[in-house]
Amino acid sequence: MNAQKILITGGTGFIGSHTVVSLMGQGYEPILLDNFCNSDRSVLRGIESITGRIPVLYEIDMQDKVALDAFFSEQPDICAVIHFAALKAVGESAQLPVAYYYNNLISLLHLLQCMEKHKVANLIFSSSATVYGTPDSLPLEEDHSAKAALSPYGNTKKISEDIIQDMAAVNQWLSAISLRYFNPIGAHESGEIGELPRGVPNNLMPFITQTATGIREELLVFGDDYDTPDGTAIRDYIHVVDLAEAHVKALERLLEKRQKSNYEIFNLGAGKGYSVLEVIQSFEKTSNLKLPYRIVERRPGDVPEMYASTQKANRELGWKTLRGLDEMTASAWNWEQRVRGINGRVS
Ligand code: UD1
Repeated sequence: MNAQKILITGGTGFIGSHTVVSLMGQGYEPILLDNFCNSDRSVLRGIESITGRIPVLYEIDMQDKVALDAFFSEQPDICAVIHFAALKAVGESAQLPVAYYYNNLISLLHLLQCMEKHKVANLIFSSSATVYGTPDSLPLEEDHSAKAALSPYGNTKKISEDIIQDMAAVNQWLSAISLRYFNPIGAHESGEIGELPRGVPNNLMPFITQTATGIREELLVFGDDYDTPDGTAIRDYIHVVDLAEAHVKALERLLEKRQKSNYEIFNLGAGKGYSVLEVIQSFEKTSNLKLPYRIVERRPGDVPEMYASTQKANRELGWKTLRGLDEMTASAWNWEQRVRGINGRVS
């Protein structure tokens, strides 16, 4: 078999690992690159359990340009890159802005320099709906103007998009797509891979599942006085496997040269918003548990409501989400129980 080799930076992370599985399912050969700063080697075993194969992995920090350049020399047949590797904790980025700007931007710049030198033309960039800032209107469409970022992390995504756009404008050899993720949650149905945050989770779903196992005492719901039907904030949650499949579609678009311009942007969301209380209700239904939670003050920097227009991604990528909220919460819980070695239900 002469499978096409795709470099996956951050390939053992949450979204990276699910994308690796989807790519292998479609006959691609992902080559993983990671520095394990926020992931674990055991992810490879999870991928092996699902696909029957352990993908090739290079332990490289992308801030090390010499090592990255040597990687591209050693792997001359890479035909596309999906760039996930980045720091992503919003709160931490406010405490460590220089580390965030340095890591996220230098890694991208090194990658672009290597792609130019080694003639790798196709790039998919892992961006975020955070680039929209506080929305003026909903649903969010790709041509809504990006706003001032709400965090250094968010700003690294905005600046990264600008760098890629500027580079694409003067380099017709480059074909790039930025994918703006809304709120990816859930896990592979096998329970072999999923989200494994280090320390106290910042995001809602892992906090819910860790609370259900008893690792966290209670979930704090940040605000119930928003102008939404139940007062809690609304987000566009997307199953991580649907998200992974969108990457395969975006890759096919690049490899088959179906782009309308050499730099494109797509929203990846489900196109539907759910409140924090609706997510909790879904979790309680699918897990058959009562979740301890308490309403507290709003979290600074949170917007009341966000959801995507998915029309462009649906039309241009020929992709749509197939999994609903209950599948998201059920799979996240299945994964959490596996990780914690819990057999059966916690009562
Ligand atoms: C956050 C980031 C976003 C980033 C994304 C990555 C902020 C302001 N935004 O999105 O930039 O791209 O994560 O995954 O941090 N919630 C609670 N209790 C909790 C945790 C969350 O009530 O313990 C609520 C939040 O207020 C929010 C919703 O749950 O309304 C989702 O929060 P979260 O999972 O952190 O995602 P975002 O804030 O949307």
